[in-house]
Amino acid sequence: MCDIERLQKLFRQMHHDDPLIVRAPGRINLIGEHTDYNNGFVLPAAIDKAIYVAVNKRADNKVYLYAEEFNETFIADLDNLRQPKFHWSGYVLGVVEQLQKRNFLISGFNIIVDGDVPVGAGMASSAAIECATAYALSELFELGLSKLEMVKIAQKAEQEFVGLQCGIMDMFTSMFGKKDHVICLDCRSYEYEYFPFKQDGIKIVLLNTSIKHSLASSEYNTRRKQCEEGVAIIQQQYPHVQSLRDVTVEMLNACIEKKSVVYNRCRFVVEEIDRLLAGCGDLQHNDIKTFGKRMFKTHDGLRKLYEVSCKELDILVELVKTNTAVLGARMMGGGFGGCTINIVKEDAVEELIYDTRNAYRDKTGMNLSAYVAVIEEGAKSLSRHVSV
Ligand code: GLA
Repeated sequence: MCDIERLQKLFRQMHHDDPLIVRAPGRINLIGEHTDYNNGFVLPAAIDKAIYVAVNKRADNKVYLYAEEFNETFIADLDNLRQPKFHWSGYVLGVVEQLQKRNFLISGFNIIVDGDVPVGAGMASSAAIECATAYALSELFELGLSKLEMVKIAQKAEQEFVGLQCGIMDMFTSMFGKKDHVICLDCRSYEYEYFPFKQDGIKIVLLNTSIKHSLASSEYNTRRKQCEEGVAIIQQQYPHVQSLRDVTVEMLNACIEKKSVVYNRCRFVVEEIDRLLAGCGDLQHNDIKTFGKRMFKTHDGLRKLYEVSCKELDILVELVKTNTAVLGARMMGGGFGGCTINIVKEDAVEELIYDTRNAYRDKTGMNLSAYVAVIEEGAKSLSRHVSV
């Protein structure tokens, strides 16, 4: 049975009704890390790992949640949306809260959350739950939300209910992803362009450290604050500057003490935005080799200047660095664990996974899981009457 059929069957068993099912994918990001909340650019794509939510309406004002992953039920009251801190239900209830704040009328509903985006692996599983929920509730209650509105609702849910001051990349990608394309997104204007990502002869391989990152635990928010501190200093000399997007290395050098942490954070972001723009040029010329070299540089910056890597991520990048079948590799996402993203020659993928798994176990004593990511469509609603 496929996932959807299993989910539909489970929903029928629990709620004796056919659900509306929505799929929202996880994401990869080729380059452009920690640039979204600095109003820069990102280059992500939606992947074939996704969250599925199944929903129907209830007659009362309750939200009845069930998550397969945790084998756990949680019941919330729409008139009093309180929830335990750091609980998975927050990703759903955060969206509900945003809808209520915007005066959208919704009544109680049942929801089952399922899917195969690994949690804490840097593939944006939380954004996928939020996007799937926003999409499903918009359809179920005929709210008529646009994709961009749903993205903003999902992002606010993460920021307010979950407490992570995230940028817009994860939600935007889950919603706007396009098969076989990466999205070059301007995080200031929300203008975007799809670039075909030709995967002939190459694969995108995600190597998962098995270290679950916990971004909400302050470090991410601290980085964001440090960037804002940098902007405030630069503004004293350059009042037109609104974000690091408007800053050059020369401006940084002129305004911020070079040995400071804030300088390092800002330097990484300014360089990363430039790297991404140059990388888009590489992709347009189909020059994956040069693109890959930039990915290694991104990792270096994330490790030394932005300091969001960890020992295990560094080991994984080091292990593949001298392998000629690996064109580029770096840690992906917020950091402190999760995956590396690797661009690998297709005929070498199996051997690479095998060798890296063994070497990683030798060096860390831990298991390595690997995924070959395929670029897929963004969120969509699936038929209400899939035959079982
Ligand atoms: C997390 C956040 C994103 C982005 C990345 C780092 O995934 O949710 O908004 O900032 O980290 O690029």
